[in-house]
Amino acid sequence: MRFFLPFIPVLAAGLIGVAATTTHGADFIPDAVLRVTEETRKQSCVPEKDILVVNGTSPGPALRFTEGQTVWIRVYNDIATQNLTMHWHGLTMATAPFSDGTPQAAQWPIPPFHFFDYELYVPIGFAGTYFYHSHVGLQAISATGPLIIEDKDKPPYHYDDDLIVFLQDVFPDTDEFIEHALLAVPMEYERAQEMVLINGKGGGIVSSDGSRCNDELSVIDVEPGKTYRLRLIGGTGLSFDILAIEGHETLQVIEAEGAYTDKFATHVMQVSPGQRFSFLIDTLKKPAKQYYYIQLESREFGPPTRSFAVLNYGPPSTDKTPKVYPPATDPITLPPTDPYWLEYSLRPYNNTKHPAASHNALDFPTAEEVTRRVNITSHLDIPGGGLLYTINGQTWNEGLVHEPYLVSLYKDGGSNWPSMERALQHDGLDPVTYAFPADIGEVIEIVVQGTGSAGGGTETHPWHAHGAHYWDLGSGEGVYNREENEARWRSSIGHPIRRDTTNLYMYGGKSPNGTLSAWRAWRLRIDHPGVWMIHCHLLPHMVWGMNSAWVMGNQTEVLSLIDRPGVEGYLTFGGSVVGNETHPPEVVEYFPLSDWEDGTVGNEQP
Ligand SMILES: *[C@@H]1O[C@H](CO)[C@@H](O)[C@H](O)[C@H]1NC(C)=O
Ligand SMILES: *[C@@H]1O[C@H](CO)[C@@H](O)[C@H](O)[C@H]1NC(C)=O
Ligand SMILES: *[C@@H]1O[C@H](CO)[C@@H](O)[C@H](O)[C@H]1NC(C)=O
Ligand SMILES: *[C@@H]1O[C@H](CO)[C@@H](O)[C@H](O)[C@H]1NC(C)=O
Ligand SMILES: *[C@@H]1O[C@H](CO)[C@@H](O)[C@H](O)[C@H]1NC(C)=O
Ligand SMILES: *[C@@H]1O[C@H](CO)[C@@H](O)[C@H](O)[C@H]1NC(C)=O
Ligand SMILES: *[C@@H]1O[C@H](CO)[C@@H](O)[C@H](O)[C@H]1NC(C)=O
Repeated sequence: MRFFLPFIPVLAAGLIGVAATTTHGADFIPDAVLRVTEETRKQSCVPEKDILVVNGTSPGPALRFTEGQTVWIRVYNDIATQNLTMHWHGLTMATAPFSDGTPQAAQWPIPPFHFFDYELYVPIGFAGTYFYHSHVGLQAISATGPLIIEDKDKPPYHYDDDLIVFLQDVFPDTDEFIEHALLAVPMEYERAQEMVLINGKGGGIVSSDGSRCNDELSVIDVEPGKTYRLRLIGGTGLSFDILAIEGHETLQVIEAEGAYTDKFATHVMQVSPGQRFSFLIDTLKKPAKQYYYIQLESREFGPPTRSFAVLNYGPPSTDKTPKVYPPATDPITLPPTDPYWLEYSLRPYNNTKHPAASHNALDFPTAEEVTRRVNITSHLDIPGGGLLYTINGQTWNEGLVHEPYLVSLYKDGGSNWPSMERALQHDGLDPVTYAFPADIGEVIEIVVQGTGSAGGGTETHPWHAHGAHYWDLGSGEGVYNREENEARWRSSIGHPIRRDTTNLYMYGGKSPNGTLSAWRAWRLRIDHPGVWMIHCHLLPHMVWGMNSAWVMGNQTEVLSLIDRPGVEGYLTFGGSVVGNETHPPEVVEYFPLSDWEDGTVGNEQP
């Protein structure tokens, strides 16, 4: 099974002394290019305003690569007044931690009119549904698009075609306006998304006043009597959504976040920001009409939003196809959110005929293998009416760390590398570097705990982990009981699956200030050196600091993934790499691993 993972020691040993020669100059040809600009756009019924678009659209173009490949993507920041990064949501970034797109963790953000080259390596076994989005502020609301990793061999389930269902929120104000208002003291933003878009379009019910929005819908072409794989992507920034398809009652879940599952039948799909699922549908053999509605509703935050798209059984849609609008009456009555939906239900796909797709059935760490337990306990404080989240007492936002962890690693061997000794005295969090350290080889059980806010409330949070995916042990109300949860798995067939985004639910919505209200438990093998964020994927909560930075591996282990042929010169940050100038604003002097190992640099530990 280690076959699927980077083999660090050999890589490190082979690289010592490699000269830094390769640079990505003007002659370097990336595999794909994305250009982000700010444009004035009207989305659905929401009045026009400035939004970020990728290659002119939101969502941006769908990227499709195949597992086992390494590709380079050049991302241009063509926005005059904002920084940008691009995160490849759900990819483990094994071997390329510098490409994770996290400001102040993996990289400096890309300044206006500069570019950054991202290396994406997707190991065999990770075919599935992903998306890309900026990781700066609230930019992910619209600077986003689908990222599909195709199977190298035949997929384990038969389907005739795959179709993308990409969800996005539309807010009434610009990202920058909302960010300022969210951070004001007292907090000044009380609005939710006005509309949820399906593949960039939407109409139905507007959340703020319950009015009807009669805007054009997305048309998804299908043919009768076929099987389709629908790839549902939760690209929303705030809304938890539930959806169902008129006339198509059986949805067979086959993938959750890049891991194939055993088939699991459901009538509705729930999807929160950051989650992805694939499900199969069999289209009708004799459809009674041309259009069948996909009906979607938002839940949890703000008044409900309703939105639609259609499956089109008629001739394939073109520019000349008449536009389709929301129905006069709702075809479906969608149930309330179910916090137990899919919990403990999904199992990893496991069939020797499809070894790559069965990859997630391997290597599940048992309770006996756990070497350390860490709680990450979040709390919402309301000092002076402003809002901020803490995780184990610390608010982590883009302004906190003076230099990205990986940049300091290239620069001086990692002066801001966390200390395990300090972390062990502070619930796993090193208070000097604001990071959670983890050693390669550890097996960590992470319990994400929610608490009642200063106002006595609870909220639902989609917790997302960068880097390696975790085995998801389930969730519940109140306080985690390890023995009880372990017994539950022991008495059921099969073991948990790997995920990268799972929810901490609000349940009743009330809990006294600071009291543990909900939990979600994960198990993680620490085998991906790098700096990885673990955070709530609600964009406003990220702005309020509900983030944690995990530094996995020591400096040698992380440098070994950076100081290697094809990459080393690129990381100088001194050539034409960050931007099109020879000397970009953040010139970082680079020391090869060999210098660092022999002690000539990197001795300035805090
Ligand atoms: C994005 O646009 C650039 C040109 O502006 C083009 O070269 C590139 O191929 C486009 N990318 C995709 C994925 O379509
Ligand atoms: C861009 O990022 C740099 C480095 O973090 C920061 O100093 C600068 O203020 C940011 N610029 C904007 C427009 O946010
Ligand atoms: C480099 O960036 C500047 C803006 O700083 C822009 O005017 C110029 O066109 C860019 N050059 C190339 C070759 O992209
Ligand atoms: C997967 O299948 C193999 C071979 O059939 C079996 O040995 C193994 O226990 C299965 N793993 C899981 C998690 O079901
Ligand atoms: C995690 O939190 C639970 C509940 O408060 C507590 O019982 C447990 O000791 C904590 N574990 C660690 C490792 O801090
Ligand atoms: C909530 O509890 C925290 C400690 O957990 C305390 O600092 C804060 O003052 C409390 N707020 C209110 C409104 O009681
Ligand atoms: C990192 O860990 C490896 C393997 O345990 C060890 O050989 C190396 O010396 C360590 N490096 C540092 C800087 O601690």
